[in-house]
Amino acid sequence: MANVSNEQIKIPRHLAIILDGNGRWALSQGQARTFGHKIGANTMKEMVNYAFSLGIEVISLYCFSTENWKRSKEEIDYLFTLPIEYFNKYMDKLIEDDIRVIISGDISSLPKQTILACDSAVLKTKDCKSHVLNICLNYGGHDEIIRAVKQIAYEVKNDKVDVKDINEEMFSSYLYTKDLPMVDLLIRTSNEKRISNFMLWQISYAEIYFCKTLWPAFTKSDLDKALKDFSKRKRRFGGI
Ligand code: IPE
Ligand code: IPE
Ligand code: MG
Repeated sequence: MANVSNEQIKIPRHLAIILDGNGRWALSQGQARTFGHKIGANTMKEMVNYAFSLGIEVISLYCFSTENWKRSKEEIDYLFTLPIEYFNKYMDKLIEDDIRVIISGDISSLPKQTILACDSAVLKTKDCKSHVLNICLNYGGHDEIIRAVKQIAYEVKNDKVDVKDINEEMFSSYLYTKDLPMVDLLIRTSNEKRISNFMLWQISYAEIYFCKTLWPAFTKSDLDKALKDFSKRKRRFGGI
């Protein structure tokens, strides 16, 4: 880890990031918002490499929310080109680093080329075992929960599930993150202090870290700071 002395650093198993501030960063550079998304995608690649090299098992990245459809068509269209570019450029590296890609969110309404790129990334990395990269696209925490409830309701109706068997573990297995540990550390950049409908079920006991840096300007040293802060937290999970 860069610039860390001999302090004991705890590495979260599951790191989730609300990568925010691309638009504001671009405007601060006198550029269009899409430029911020472009540079933000570079930051994403760098942080994914760095975080996995530190031993983090799972990274969840909030890339497009169910609410982001409110933006201009131009911005949305641009955002959906980024997964294509990302997976084209880094597929070999993802496989080499043994990273399994999963997608959280209903991608069926995305452009065809984006769907193909996502499906292909999931398929090509399906046997990777060391890490999981969870890309959240057209993702909303409410949407995910409703989707799970609907599936369970159908299964109850068709006598495949007994209402008595519905419990937290069972419910979790209907979410996009089935098989993954709960989020340990949630980082949100850009000085906004809200959750914006991200992983509502999975962050129930996450430590939350807000930082001022806008996502395109986020560096390894920002991540180091977040991890140092996380290492000092006393996680009690309701105990004493
Ligand atoms: C985060 O940056 C990326 C997405 C939400 C897609 P924003 O685009 O929200 O940037 P700001 O918050 O407007 O600066
Ligand atoms: C959250 O950021 C969504 C993503 C990072 C993809 P937003 O910029 O959309 O959130 P709000 O509107 O500030 O809550
Ligand atoms: Mg934002």
